[in-house]
Amino acid sequence: MAKQEDVFKTIVAHAKEYGFVFQSSEIYDGLSAVYDYGQNGVELKNNIKRYWWEAMTMLNDNIVGIDSAIFMHPTIWKASGHVDAFNDPLIDNKDSKKRYRADVLIEDEIAKFDEKINKEVAKAAKRFGETFDEEMFRQTNPRVLEHTRKRDELHQRYSDAMNANDLSELKQIILDYEIVDPISGTRNWTDVRQFNLMFKTEMGSTADGAMEVYLRPETAQGIFVNYLNVQKTGRMRIPFGIAQIGKAFRNEIVARQFIFRMREFEQMEMQFFVRPGEELKWFDHWRQVRLRWHKALGLGDEKYRYHDHEKLAHYANAATDIEFQMPFGFKEVEGIHSRTNFDLSQHEKYSGKNIKYFDPELNESYVPYVIETSIGVDRMFLSVLCSCYEAQDLGNGDSRVVLHFPAPIAPVKCAVLPLVKKDGLPEKAREIQHRLRFDFTCQYDEKDSIGKRYRRQDAIGTPFCITVDHQTLEDGTVTLRERDSMDQRRVAIDNLEKILGEQVSLNSLLKKLV
Ligand code: GAP
Repeated sequence: MAKQEDVFKTIVAHAKEYGFVFQSSEIYDGLSAVYDYGQNGVELKNNIKRYWWEAMTMLNDNIVGIDSAIFMHPTIWKASGHVDAFNDPLIDNKDSKKRYRADVLIEDEIAKFDEKINKEVAKAAKRFGETFDEEMFRQTNPRVLEHTRKRDELHQRYSDAMNANDLSELKQIILDYEIVDPISGTRNWTDVRQFNLMFKTEMGSTADGAMEVYLRPETAQGIFVNYLNVQKTGRMRIPFGIAQIGKAFRNEIVARQFIFRMREFEQMEMQFFVRPGEELKWFDHWRQVRLRWHKALGLGDEKYRYHDHEKLAHYANAATDIEFQMPFGFKEVEGIHSRTNFDLSQHEKYSGKNIKYFDPELNESYVPYVIETSIGVDRMFLSVLCSCYEAQDLGNGDSRVVLHFPAPIAPVKCAVLPLVKKDGLPEKAREIQHRLRFDFTCQYDEKDSIGKRYRRQDAIGTPFCITVDHQTLEDGTVTLRERDSMDQRRVAIDNLEKILGEQVSLNSLLKKLV
């Protein structure tokens, strides 16, 4: 079986070869952790965004959208805490001259204990077969218990250091656990320092005295500072939500795993404003609603799990991540946070403006509490791409690479293919394509054998191929080939819109959510 690392490399190569994702500025040797989306990638990305946007704004009476600017007044980032605390602890290796996140080095070390435990469990499961009681084994096996003890000890020390912001202790952990630089293999480390992740630039001419501004590191603050504008102009009543999709920028120290951790990325965030005291009820609501949204895509329920935060940011009173099983392990795709009234109170304090909400039912004013759902578009894209990729052995020496995208978010919905390039078949195929293109992204392809054309469409995840042959000219029927089963059936041209419409419309997904 191929190693997961190799599978991931193959997926990344496929993403480039088939026009999904390119390295930014590639002809200039690239720009690290910045990526461009190609002709198929942009369609998939737009469909993911549309699925989220419509689920938020069309399925909920009390959620509306906004599109706020990337540049914001710099005091906003002081108020939000990003200027003082949006830091990563970094450490350099003096031999390789490479820079790492100290917390990531330690977390990787913790993960090694988990790997050892899982190996013991897998070995025992194989040995004992059906009679294996995993829970009992984890609780009693001496080697598992020893690894667990060591992992918990390290985890505790690490959490304490992070909570106390104790940078010298983080370095000491790295030294005590003999963590080496993966490149140089040495333990020649600098001290740990804090590094702010926001990008800075200047606004206005220097003669006037330019103002230092930041590229926003999250879209959420654009929602907070507009919440009262939206509430008043939209006559919104609490509870209500504001949704936004937009770019965010972070000068990540360790940018890894392709589009998983980027320096320029896109977020889909929704802030839900509630009465003080009701936030945990709404937190639970959104925790469930968001998982349902993910699972409706049908990528496999077992690929998701919650990760409830033990260590909470000082302003949060509950937080959970929805993690997805990537080829490199379960990773956060979305965060759901109960942010109390921290952000709005801070903006009230720093702006000096009253931004309280008057609740007509309670006849009182208060600063609302906020539940946030925050998902990265690019991470969502990566989870879809990785879970849909399959290198399939078809037997008899035949194989294909297929992307099993859920049809409503597939970049291309159908391809019209004349069986041969003569006898009026191309003209008929064009006629069908022109008819379908108003409702579906529809390609026309006449080059190469029909088998090769099917493979090309499989490789970009097109759910349906429509083949036009000589019978089409006689009876107005075509062959409809389904991507996953490769089954073919004859259907009337007049029925194509209806058949495709039922399968590829976003409504079929949205209806699962209500
Ligand atoms: N407003 C809350 C917030 O920004 P976050 O956990 O820092 O919370 C939310 O980010 C989501 O944004 C993450 O779950 C992830 O999907 C995405 N994200 C964060 N940093 C990212 C990066 N460097 N590259 C790609 N996606 C990122």
